[in-house]
Amino acid sequence: MPVECREKIVDERKPSPIASALLAHYDLHARTLAWRIAPQQSRQGIRPDPYRVWLSEVMLQQTTVAAVTRYFNAFTARWPTVAALAAAPAEDVLAAWAGLGYYARARNLIDCARAVAGDHQGHFPDTEAGLRLLPGVGDYTAAAVAAIAFNQPSAVVDANVERVTARLFAIQTPLPAAKSAIREKVAQMVPADRPGDFAQAMMDLGATLCTPRAPSCLLCPLASYCEARARGTAESLPVKPPKKAKPQRTGTAWWIEQDGHVLLVQRGDKGMLGGMRALPDDGWSARRDGDAAAPLAGQWTHVEAAVAHVFTHFSLELSLALYRGPQIDKVAIENLSGAFWWPVERIEEAGLPTVFAKAARAAIQHR
Ligand code: ADE
Repeated sequence: MPVECREKIVDERKPSPIASALLAHYDLHARTLAWRIAPQQSRQGIRPDPYRVWLSEVMLQQTTVAAVTRYFNAFTARWPTVAALAAAPAEDVLAAWAGLGYYARARNLIDCARAVAGDHQGHFPDTEAGLRLLPGVGDYTAAAVAAIAFNQPSAVVDANVERVTARLFAIQTPLPAAKSAIREKVAQMVPADRPGDFAQAMMDLGATLCTPRAPSCLLCPLASYCEARARGTAESLPVKPPKKAKPQRTGTAWWIEQDGHVLLVQRGDKGMLGGMRALPDDGWSARRDGDAAAPLAGQWTHVEAAVAHVFTHFSLELSLALYRGPQIDKVAIENLSGAFWWPVERIEEAGLPTVFAKAARAAIQHR
């Protein structure tokens, strides 16, 4: 329990030996990451920019460090502050996010940047509770930003931390039921002096040594504390619920090209790939197949199953249909459909989500 002491909060718990061993290892082996302050600097009280911490944590949800780094560098070069990001047109931010997936994150990113710039004078709140009130900031992001940017003693629990903790304490309860027990164990280990480094050290351990398969227990700084290692059960933990089979959906994307331009749409704000530029399609979703009804009468060349794409909740086999004529009144079709013409030679700059970028690539081969 923290107690008040001459205006300073001190934590009277004994430091966890697990946290001490982990931090000693982190001091030597921390990964160098674009958004990270090295432990040497952190120990001198240097804190990372909360904007960079928040941006990286949003990007890293469901996405690997390798995939995020390029996007993180591009975003921070183009929008170096939260105020700059808040002032950017939403369509530029969504296009810059293209390829990272989980596009609701990008829409929340814009809303959150605008709230911080508009309601908080460009400063992120410095507590977990204050951060949690921002648009799109959930329990995980609030805890991670509070710990890493503001050195608050928050329990930061992502999938890597879940795995490390389930193994350390040999927690047999399957996920997600085990989540509260895991959070409790993490909270008990958080060291009062270095909560941000502790959070990142746990994540690094999960990403590099305490991996889902074939964990490197011989190199692990926590091996002597690890109950699962003692029992020889590390690789079987955490216990996961059985995987649901993914439904297989079919759909069609329409490639309508004339005079070097292709017809694109901006998808509605709600739902899958919301707000993103895309090829027109036939209404496929996680719940249903597309209806294959062409948006224009005319001649089409069909390329069956041109693209395979796996989303979180379903797999999609996407066919492609290329419009062959007759000639279209380009202005009339824009007015009619809310679609717009985009130069084919600049298709890479349209910021198409990956499934449509694949379809565009296939279409260009077949035109
Ligand atoms: N994964 C998510 N956030 C991370 C961080 N701050 N460091 C390393 N891996 C992470």
